[in-house]
Amino acid sequence: MEHIALYRKYRPKRFEDVIGQDHITKTLQNQITSGQIGHAYLFTGTRGTGKTSVAKIFAKSVNCLSPIRGSACGECENCKRLEQENDINIIEIDAASNNKVDDIRQIREKVKFMPVGAKYKVYIVDEVHMLSDSAFNALLKTLEEPPSYVIFILATTEVHKLPQTILSRCVRFDFRLVPVDLLMKHLAKVFDKEGIKYDEESLKIIASAGEGSVRDTLSIADSIASFCQGDITKEKTLSVLGTTDHELILNFFDKLLEKDVGGVLSLIDKIEKEGKNLAVFAKDLSRHSRNLLVCKSCKNSEEILNLPDDVMELYKAQAEKFAEKDLIRYMQVFSGAESELRYTLSVRLLLETTCLSAMLGFDAKKN
Ligand SMILES: Nc1ncnc2c1ncn2[C@@H]1O[C@H](COP(=O)(O)OP(=O)(O)OP(=O)(O)O)[C@@H](O)[C@H]1O
Ligand SMILES: [Mg+2]
Ligand SMILES: [Zn+2]
Repeated sequence: MEHIALYRKYRPKRFEDVIGQDHITKTLQNQITSGQIGHAYLFTGTRGTGKTSVAKIFAKSVNCLSPIRGSACGECENCKRLEQENDINIIEIDAASNNKVDDIRQIREKVKFMPVGAKYKVYIVDEVHMLSDSAFNALLKTLEEPPSYVIFILATTEVHKLPQTILSRCVRFDFRLVPVDLLMKHLAKVFDKEGIKYDEESLKIIASAGEGSVRDTLSIADSIASFCQGDITKEKTLSVLGTTDHELILNFFDKLLEKDVGGVLSLIDKIEKEGKNLAVFAKDLSRHSRNLLVCKSCKNSEEILNLPDDVMELYKAQAEKFAEKDLIRYMQVFSGAESELRYTLSVRLLLETTCLSAMLGFDAKKN
């Protein structure tokens, strides 16, 4: 049987299924209920947070003949018709591949035709920041005087690339990164529906690795589920993600604190021999420096880090032992190394040099 990626299979179909974006879905539902629908919307925010999904749900809901609290009823003539993937009243345009002025002119030509068997024609322009300057100008003309039956939804991850003239004509909605606890709940539901067994800790690790993107979280979950073939366990999850466990990273930072050169080098050796990915480990180092810095300097560190209680205790205790300025230096050095690691031929050597120079407080490359 063909495997459908979890993030495709679980694309939200109703406003209620969208997680973490209540500030947007509620407003859109209210607009539908009160009949105050705009003609140009801009959806911005990180990848995989629901922009395209919400645009499609909105397109269906505005066309529903008897929406329920602003959501498509799913029963009426229009709902039934629009359920089909290629309904002519919902037009999806990928601006990345249709970024020329002629592409937009074609839209302007078609905008003139009334919707067929629907109230609104909805144009969803994805990756709108990819449009050329002249294409933006052509789009602007359409946005200036859209026919009453047309709605534009422009979506982008890079809002700073849009001209002010476009921005000022759109109602803007910022999609937020989804908090870990919501991602965990969502993931648990998906796993339950799929009949996949898991434990709480794995849920948290996967949800954190998604870094606020629902799509990323689900695709990470996908690869872990297929690796585990049955029960998802913390050990297997960590080994797929290549992330190191808390104990190891704490131990490593103790060595850094003690300026134990031999200890650091042999730990790196051990990590490599265990088959862990050193580039991922480098990422863990910069994340851990940041975690410690947050523990040390923020009153609401629990809220910011959202880690299990026992881990939080260990982190706090370790943070106590470090000077703030050292943690800042670690963060700088390790995050700088992260990008260099992508280009280096010897990851291990670079990692060793970085650790030693961070630890001894000098820039090894300049010496
Ligand atoms: N807020 C959300 N609630 C539930 N599922 C979501 C949400 N955001 C994303 N997803 C999941 O991720 C998949 C992709 O979402 P979507 O295409 O809406 O993201 P996007 O914000 O448009 O991303 P991109 O910027 O890459 O275009 C969906 O099919 C769904 O599985
Ligand atoms: Mg999208
Ligand atoms: Zn309906």
